[in-house]
Amino acid sequence: MSPPSNLGNFKDGSESAAGENYADINWDNYELGFYLVPTDYMYVMKCAKGDKFSQGSIVPYGNIEISPSAGILNYGQGLFEGLKAYRTEDGRILLFRPDENAQRMKRGADRLCMPSPSNDQFVNAVKQIVLANKRWVPPSGKGSLYVRPLLMGTGASLGVGPAPEYTFLIYCSPVGSYHKGALNFKVEDKLYRAISGSGGTGGIKSVTNYAPVYTAMTEAKANGFSDVLFLDSATGKYIEEATACNVFVVKDNSIFTPEIDGTILPGITRKSIIEIAIDLGYQVMERAVSVEEMLGADEMFCTGTAMVVNSVASVTYKETRVDYKTGPEALSAKLRATLVGIQTGCVEDKKSWTVLVD
Ligand SMILES: Cc1ncc(COP(=O)(O)O)c(C=O)c1O
Repeated sequence: MSPPSNLGNFKDGSESAAGENYADINWDNYELGFYLVPTDYMYVMKCAKGDKFSQGSIVPYGNIEISPSAGILNYGQGLFEGLKAYRTEDGRILLFRPDENAQRMKRGADRLCMPSPSNDQFVNAVKQIVLANKRWVPPSGKGSLYVRPLLMGTGASLGVGPAPEYTFLIYCSPVGSYHKGALNFKVEDKLYRAISGSGGTGGIKSVTNYAPVYTAMTEAKANGFSDVLFLDSATGKYIEEATACNVFVVKDNSIFTPEIDGTILPGITRKSIIEIAIDLGYQVMERAVSVEEMLGADEMFCTGTAMVVNSVASVTYKETRVDYKTGPEALSAKLRATLVGIQTGCVEDKKSWTVLVD
């Protein structure tokens, strides 16, 4: 989706009430959504096959030139990550658990036979690119700066095999809400997102995990649903996750979420919400969750960096539609408020999850 034309003039800076320099977006009058608003700079670091990443640089944001024979274009040798930078009320900029993204990228890189930046390289690069694009970090309460690291085989290789060169690139975009309101899920019972079990790639953020979901997602959206919920490919009896978020169901005072078994993505929001819920006194069980159990639940919600925590209003499985509790009284609202509070510096970060960008 492209940004609306009334968003503002991206190239001119404007002075905020706090005297801070911001990109000239109508921050007060326009509600950002989740689409690309190009910023000033991106980060690029390259490394040859068999080497280690060493030195990256900040360059103007723009198109990149790669060989038609690049590993990423021909054989899908690529990963992406996603995290956000938030501006606090007192003007600081915070990242949320960037080391977790670094580790997840490393696990994916090992699986796809790619070198990966070290944790420190990853986190430092994210800090640098956020600082370089500081004027695009929305004012507190107006959104966040979405940070998108990519790791890809950019070297040319005609034959099937690991690319001879790799690029780690980070670009950013200011974003607002991913979804507006509670979601209506359609359970997909014919196409699968990932192969069940630990042998596949469902548990990493391989670029190849996303396009295979589009047919089901497009059809569901055309029929008025917000997203698709995928089932396990071995039995088709258990829920896994949606297109790009993890799912939770709530029954009485217990919370259930599919366990991390190599098939579903180990979401950083998922992991954080589990800890927050346990701290708030809820019982959280990570185990297989059947379709029947989901249909009998009181509440359902999903988690992901882009949406943070979003409640699910309904699920439709074959001919059955079930409605769930939503609104301010729902548990998901409480969990979301705590997590967003920590991410934006409004709630004390007792777990040292946030990282200051300075
Ligand atoms: C398939 C999939 N599942 C779950 C998630 C949620 O993960 P996280 O909370 O780390 O953003 C994402 C998004 O990254 C995703 O693409």
